Amino acid sequence: MGKLLVTGATGNLGRRTLQLLLERVPAEQLAGLSRTPGRAADLAERGVDVRQGDYLDYASLVRAFDGVDRLLLVSAQAFTDRSAQHFNAIAAAKQAGVRHVIYTAIQRDDELGIDQVGVTESDVFTEQALRASGLTYTILRNPMYLDQFDGYIGADAYENGVRVPHGDGTMAPALLRDLAAANVAVLTQEGHENAIYTLNGSEAASFREIAAALSEIHGKTVPYLPVSVEEHLDSYLRKDIPRPVAEFLTAWVAGVGLGSFSKNTDDLERLIGYRPTSYREFLEKNYPAVIPRTDA
Ligand SMILES: NC(=O)c1ccc[n+]([C@@H]2O[C@H](COP(=O)([O-])OP(=O)(O)OC[C@H]3O[C@@H](n4cnc5c(N)ncnc54)[C@H](OP(=O)(O)O)[C@@H]3O)[C@@H](O)[C@H]2O)c1
Repeated sequence: MGKLLVTGATGNLGRRTLQLLLERVPAEQLAGLSRTPGRAADLAERGVDVRQGDYLDYASLVRAFDGVDRLLLVSAQAFTDRSAQHFNAIAAAKQAGVRHVIYTAIQRDDELGIDQVGVTESDVFTEQALRASGLTYTILRNPMYLDQFDGYIGADAYENGVRVPHGDGTMAPALLRDLAAANVAVLTQEGHENAIYTLNGSEAASFREIAAALSEIHGKTVPYLPVSVEEHLDSYLRKDIPRPVAEFLTAWVAGVGLGSFSKNTDDLERLIGYRPTSYREFLEKNYPAVIPRTDA
């Protein structure tokens, strides 16, 4: 049988996926992709076949995907030409004889039609390209990573309140670990062919409800203090976050308020077979937190 290959093997999601796969699948069936395989030496030491490949180098992908049966295409980073990179990966998978490609998109609401800058357009393009490719596909629309929640509400909400653009939209972010477990389920089980799943943590909340939850956890009122989009953007710029990244993050947070992440499902729980961690459980233990490293 062909191998299971995970791209983005050195990143937060890909590395966790391979670490979980190693608990379930013989290492000789596993492969990972990186532009710099040396950065995944820990996985190679455990028997994962870490292959060199760059989404921007088509020939490298065809080589790297040789002998692969199922491929998890971890989406390329924002601020790059994601559409071209994903198209290369899908076309190379087809040429290399891969049977099934699983793509990690970002949760969106097509009816609402709010474009997340740098993400939605290339996600829509990639999903269309994948469906048109004739390959078996599974699309896993990911929510915000709970692990990076500080990036959206700031690490100082206990002192300064939850200051985000106004809006009653909700979200149900999920832990990278639970999302990685969903990747493992689709890579290792039958029954997810040509499916589109929206993955969410256990509980949905608006920023107002998140402020209320933080108040309970902290034992002191943490106010919800809606601010203008410009003010939220400034809060990132004051932390020396480059303007394009600050604009990107602001658009996400404003999008939550507007409802981009409000249509939640229990797809994640059904895929992983346990109740995914909720935002409240995460905040109780980890707020304010630093992003945990998996390669430390
Ligand atoms: N849902 C969310 O909240 C959220 C948050 C952030 C990002 N995302 C999206 O989800 C993806 C995975 O997130 P993450 O946190 O795991 O990202 P990450 O830690 O930044 O990892 C990105 C991975 O992509 C690989 N990569 C980048 N450019 C590449 C290229 N040209 N060719 C081949 N591989 C390339 C990198 O591998 P090498 O550098 O080793 O080649 C790295 O392993 C991101 O890329 C982004 O699209 C989602």
